Amino acid sequence: MLTGRNNRGEFAGVEGENMEQKDHIKVLFSEAEVDARIRDLGAQISADYAGKELHLICILKGGAFFACELAKRITIPVSIDFMCVSSYGNEKSSSGIVKIVKDLDDPLEGKDVLIAEDIIDSGRTLSYLIPVLHKRNPKSIEICTLLNKPERRETDVFVKYTGFSIPDEFVVGYGLDYAQKYRNLPYIGTMEE
Ligand code: IMP
Ligand code: MG
Repeated sequence: MLTGRNNRGEFAGVEGENMEQKDHIKVLFSEAEVDARIRDLGAQISADYAGKELHLICILKGGAFFACELAKRITIPVSIDFMCVSSYGNEKSSSGIVKIVKDLDDPLEGKDVLIAEDIIDSGRTLSYLIPVLHKRNPKSIEICTLLNKPERRETDVFVKYTGFSIPDEFVVGYGLDYAQKYRNLPYIGTMEE
């Protein structure tokens, strides 16, 4: 049985512990902090792309919560498409062998494309994906990530917009999962084993 949220908004039981899973989740960025940062990103993106239309690509599943909130904060015309990628690996890291599980519905030809991702860790997922998308001839392609772990980078990825840079800690919530759980947390938390 899940125990709900305590008074600090943690999805947890007594003293931040999830009784069933024994996962201890500590708030890193509260719901209000995440909302405020996404609002800033939306304003910055709207200014940078003023007079243009933006084609937002949401990387499922993790990027879904962020992409929807970001789209709501962008004031220029936005179209949105979804791509589901899976990378083989264990529950906490990706292998870099990326599979497109669901491709985009629409062509990218001539569009200003912005990829909305939950987190960039090793960078392998996007290092694979960016060249694939470039072959479809967009006018431009940039990355906007909610979270970035620069210390973990193994490949070179140019990230234009970052919500928060974080140290090498495993985080959940706001779309990010551990073994498919905790995506629905309205805040970002670190998971301690
Ligand atoms: P990369 O290819 O190593 O950059 O991995 C990116 C993907 O790994 C993300 O889209 C997440 O699905 C997953 N990932 C990396 N770090 C975390 C984390 O701290 N929490 C949850 N998922 C993570
Ligand atoms: Mg992801």
